[in-house]
Amino acid sequence: MKIAARSADVEFRDVTRRFGSVVAVDRISFRIESGTLVTLLGPSGCGKTTTLRMIAGLEMPSDGVILIGGRDVTKLPATERDVSMVFQSYALFPHMNVIENVAYGLAVGGGSKSERLDKAREGLRLVGLTGYDTRLPSELSGGQQQRVAVARALVLEPSVLLFDEPLSNLDAKLRRRMREEIRELQQKLSLTAVYVTHDQEEALAVSDRIIVMSQARIAQNGTPAELYDWPATTFVADFIGGANLVDCEVAARDGAMARIRLGSIELQLPHRDLAAGKARLAIRPNAIRLARDAAPTRLPATVRKATYLGSHIEYTLDTAIGELFTTDAATENPFAPGAGIHVGFASRGLALVRD
Ligand SMILES: Nc1ncnc2c1ncn2[C@@H]1O[C@H](COP(=O)(O)OP(=O)(O)OP(=O)(O)O)[C@@H](O)[C@H]1O
Ligand SMILES: [Mg+2]
Repeated sequence: MKIAARSADVEFRDVTRRFGSVVAVDRISFRIESGTLVTLLGPSGCGKTTTLRMIAGLEMPSDGVILIGGRDVTKLPATERDVSMVFQSYALFPHMNVIENVAYGLAVGGGSKSERLDKAREGLRLVGLTGYDTRLPSELSGGQQQRVAVARALVLEPSVLLFDEPLSNLDAKLRRRMREEIRELQQKLSLTAVYVTHDQEEALAVSDRIIVMSQARIAQNGTPAELYDWPATTFVADFIGGANLVDCEVAARDGAMARIRLGSIELQLPHRDLAAGKARLAIRPNAIRLARDAAPTRLPATVRKATYLGSHIEYTLDTAIGELFTTDAATENPFAPGAGIHVGFASRGLALVRD
């Protein structure tokens, strides 16, 4: 018995959710294309779970419209939405064995018992748990319990599959493996999946697109590469990939480019609609080049801290534009703390950002 994806797209139009005086989600709009995996990423309390629960129908918007597969579901309860959710805590029934847990949700939808068991077995096969039918949840590892929870959601053939921090109870190595498995399954079945995490690396690894949230609003919505290369705000630049944020000046604009004054040097960068005058520049740690010699394109710097980490060295540098953090793969002759050096910049990894 096959598990078929009936993937649908999801759209939010100016959706707000208030809890008394708390605005948990504040007029957000986005569209999630069918068959894609989109991550809601942001710090604790920014509104990720509330957004996910509104897709599921476990929470109702105070304002706005929610569409799934083009159908207005704003006022529909969870049971009429064709959406299933994988929880952080797995939420397995402890007294039911694995196959009973996976088949549980199918009982509501009808079908004979043997059909339900066939489908549950197919779900377990997809998550790599063939042969575990009669184990109890207490007899499984954390990763295996998470797989059972994924299988249980999958067999319902939802039009949207939701994950709320599904890996946070697992250790780092297993987290990495499980996120790859979830991504493979999502792609293989062309599922529409919405995935909540506050881990930026996890988001970059699994997503077609990432919606970055901050304080109940959407800070930026883009592909992993767009967010990393072209963060819109200082918040996004810092939250994804950790950027050095420094002051600069937009001296003049010419077409899409601007001449930027950065301390004693000048750079050419896309102006991104920022006006001439003071501005903020995000510099990725790996866009900084260290050199012994001075050059017109380099800033003088002093090494404050050098930390050897095997494959690379982490440097903290003092410069006229402020402190810069960078990594360098040249581990053989590291610069010592106190050394006077010069820093240049790569052509990628620098972006003007809004505050
Ligand atoms: N049922 C509720 N009653 C009152 N306030 C709530 C309720 N649910 C959420 N909130 C508040 O809404 C805001 C957003 O909560 P939400 O759970 O969506 O955040 P989150 O991004 O999922 O955070 P975390 O990463 O910690 O899980 C928080 O300030 C939270 O305290
Ligand atoms: Mg949450």
